[in-house]
Amino acid sequence: MTITTVTTISDLRVVLERHRAEGRSVGFVPTMGFLHDGHASLMRAAAAGNDIVAASIFVNPLQFAADEDLSTYPRDIDADTALADFNGVDVLFIPDVNEMYPDGPVLTSVYVSELSDRLEAGTRPTHFSGVATVVTKLFSIIGPCRAYFGEKDFQQLAIIRRMVRDLSMPVDVVGCPIIREPDGLAMSSRNVYLTADQRPKAIALRRALDAGIDAIESGQRSLQPVLDAMANVINNEPEALLDYVAVVDAESLEAPSLLKGKLRLLVAATVGTPRLLDNDGIFVS
Ligand code: PAJ
Repeated sequence: MTITTVTTISDLRVVLERHRAEGRSVGFVPTMGFLHDGHASLMRAAAAGNDIVAASIFVNPLQFAADEDLSTYPRDIDADTALADFNGVDVLFIPDVNEMYPDGPVLTSVYVSELSDRLEAGTRPTHFSGVATVVTKLFSIIGPCRAYFGEKDFQQLAIIRRMVRDLSMPVDVVGCPIIREPDGLAMSSRNVYLTADQRPKAIALRRALDAGIDAIESGQRSLQPVLDAMANVINNEPEALLDYVAVVDAESLEAPSLLKGKLRLLVAATVGTPRLLDNDGIFVS
């Protein structure tokens, strides 16, 4: 089946209703476009687990603060359509802002408390209510059986999982592993902002995670020395500006007093222009 692109909510509903009437399951991959192999991996997972794959490309203004890169967020609809088609997407939804928010600023928003108030909230306090609101809206437009999110945005994934549980949304949230460049840099649409000089320095984030994992694997069970080991790597890279390092419980996102159980190490840092995120998991018995 070749890809169908739709730009309106009503057209999308007609297309998907037709599939559902034939008994087909719908998997959904929400994105903001400028697609890379990380997005493609979600599309492939959706194609493997569902009869039909719907994906969306929408640079959602609700999740950008006034000083962020909404107007310059990279876009390439032709390349995105080709990538989505190649990776098994059947229906690509590309609404404009007026289609999604015809009444201007929304009066209704979804806010997953606590989980939205940590980590990224330090620099992006309103970000996750913008994400939760648009994802709720997209779920309600598309009505997917399953929706695919990357572990790359680990806090986002935890928030969406909790939102779906709290509100009994009839969708299975599927988390997919981080896809990396050969040198270890996590793929991100914002990597395009890195200059040729900055690009090799950006693997400092991956190295910071490795330093934390090494410390835990060598027997360190106190939080602070692990955080110090991670922060040192970023602070020793002159091009990188540390935002935060964290080790949290993988579900509650709370910092454990003793390093035990299913943990997630996270790092956020600015390298040149872009603010980059990375994370990795470890289980401590
Ligand atoms: P965007 O940044 O385009 O990411 C879309 C999806 O791709 C997210 O689930 C993200 O975690 C996943 N992804 C990005 N890079 C990845 C990588 N290297 N490996 C695996 N998965 C990766 O996240 C958003 O858009 C938006 O917040 C959205 C959920 C679409 C709501 O607007």
